[in-house]
Amino acid sequence: MIIKSKSTRITHKIAEKFAKELLAHEPKTKKALVIGLKGELGSGKTTFVQGFAKGLGIKNKIVSPTFIIMRIYRPQSKKINFSLHHLDAYRIEKQKEFSLLYFKQMISDPKNIILVEWVDKIKRALPKEFFLITFNYGKGKNERIIKFKIVKSL
Ligand SMILES: Nc1ncnc2c1ncn2[C@@H]1O[C@H](COP(=O)(O)OP(=O)(O)O)[C@@H](O)[C@H]1O
Ligand SMILES: [Mg+2]
Repeated sequence: MIIKSKSTRITHKIAEKFAKELLAHEPKTKKALVIGLKGELGSGKTTFVQGFAKGLGIKNKIVSPTFIIMRIYRPQSKKINFSLHHLDAYRIEKQKEFSLLYFKQMISDPKNIILVEWVDKIKRALPKEFFLITFNYGKGKNERIIKFKIVKSL
């Protein structure tokens, strides 16, 4: 599925709707839900996570975790029992530097929803199946092309 977004606000809305639909489906997998985000600097990955978090009922302000690698958020509502992990793998120069063990532990918990910016950098740590969202610049300054797909690595 490919969607064209013409503004930051529209990207927020697209992500919010995507999150709400995921919640509504309540995936009954035994593993965490992993969403990889791919695209150039400024293409809208962090912007997407902001809208996604809002869709899950998270009230915190979402900022880029580039320098600290990961932030964890929980929704205020007690009815929703999961935590959102927002990772930025940009600074992970070599995959071996990244704690694969820690990531494996993270993805083995079905209560985790994990969004990873620069997902290409941690290919080896990814589960067999995950969402991949690719961001590209469109024509105008505020146009972004957002592609959704499900990747099955087997
Ligand atoms: N249609 C759009 N979708 C997302 N961001 C947009 C759009 N148009 C303009 N922007 C701006 O582009 C920048 C995207 O930055 P960010 O989401 O941090 O990108 P990334 O995390 O991919 O580096 C923000 O300043 C945002 O306001
Ligand atoms: Mg970012």
